Amino acid sequence: MTGADSVYPFGLAPVPGRRRRIAVIAGDGIGPEVVEQALRVVGPLGVPLEIQHFPWSANHYLQTQETLPKGALIELRDQFDAIFFGALGDPRVPDGVVARDVLLGLRFGLDLYINLRPVQLLDEKLCPVKGKSRRDVNFWVLRENTEGPYVQMGGSFKRDTPDEVAISEDLNTRRGVERIIRAAYTLAKVPHGSSHDTPRVCMVDKANALPHAHGLWQRAFREVAAEHRDVQSSHLFVDVAAMEFVRTPERFDAVVTSNLFGDILTDLGAAICGGLGVAASGNIHPGRCSLFEPVHGSAPDIAGKGLANPLAAFLTLAMLYDHLGEGRAAERLRRAVEHVVLAGQVTRDVGGTLSTAECGDAVLRVLTSPTSN
Ligand code: NAD
Ligand code: IPM
Ligand code: MN
Repeated sequence: MTGADSVYPFGLAPVPGRRRRIAVIAGDGIGPEVVEQALRVVGPLGVPLEIQHFPWSANHYLQTQETLPKGALIELRDQFDAIFFGALGDPRVPDGVVARDVLLGLRFGLDLYINLRPVQLLDEKLCPVKGKSRRDVNFWVLRENTEGPYVQMGGSFKRDTPDEVAISEDLNTRRGVERIIRAAYTLAKVPHGSSHDTPRVCMVDKANALPHAHGLWQRAFREVAAEHRDVQSSHLFVDVAAMEFVRTPERFDAVVTSNLFGDILTDLGAAICGGLGVAASGNIHPGRCSLFEPVHGSAPDIAGKGLANPLAAFLTLAMLYDHLGEGRAAERLRRAVEHVVLAGQVTRDVGGTLSTAECGDAVLRVLTSPTSN
């Protein structure tokens, strides 16, 4: 969240006296590089955490054939408070089976139905759209995270012949759609430095072309909107929404959309904030163990070269702290990231010259300086 008066509404209930347990899945490519940097601030932030690393990755799969082992879901759900995740995806595993089993497996298996992706500009100079300020680019996308074509229902027929037929079903349930829309209303009412007097929720679909699936979204949206007269509710088709993300990002507070549209729109959201190197996300079930990951992938093109921007991972860790109820640590970390961005102590993707580790050093220096509280 941004702003001192923000209260993250999806967090865990307090458990006084117990250390929070965090599972770390660093993954592939730049995943381990950015996770390593982010974890350096855990000590200085002063919230005692118990951290356990899990090896699930392409390397682990190639050695053991294991993706997400049996029992992992229950262990994570019952024994951990949050999961900090780097990225999965490796060219040696061409069909993406590890990412599918582990990342999508956790999203579905832990029922992490809110994919919360802030689109919040850290510094005007990172925005490629001219004339847009931090106040203008300051909203959230809530991406439905347990349904849509991601459920992988479907199949193919006559594979590898000229007559091949392939079907991917787009699953939408009334319950699933309604709960993500409700989450958008909950979040829109949280103060976040918006310039709007009335909070806004915009639902994005493609009901003109997909009347069955997105007709359901429209009906659910109308009903929930009617319960929230104190919120300005609007609707855009996804094609226009893509244009408005660039043209008038200032019109949004909370944007709620389907799984696939949310995937695509949030890379665009990242682009108007400076790119994937600064985009954070949470895969959340309110009040339960949830998974926090940068929006970016494993970036095989830059892996192992010290070029990865670790700021998305730092901002992701801040979201994890919010979920734990540690809003003060989250704010300190976000302020440190803002500080290094303003000072230009950043990697090349956002106009700096630093390596991954040097950018991590800069964040750590801010957090451990005597003026950081
Ligand atoms: P990607 O996000 O890995 O990379 C896209 C582009 O952005 C690349 O040019 C990359 O160098 C750049 N980039 C990404 N993160 C960066 C960072 N922190 N700093 C600087 N530059 C950064 O997307 P892709 O290339 O489409 O996918 C690569 C692999 O990652 C694929 O296997 C894909 O399935 C997987 N993937 C995983 C996740 C995840 O684990 N959550 C998310 C997206 C993609
Ligand atoms: C993301 C990624 C994933 C998604 C892939 C790796 C399956 O792009 O987290 O945005 O599409 O959800
Ligand atoms: Mn994506």
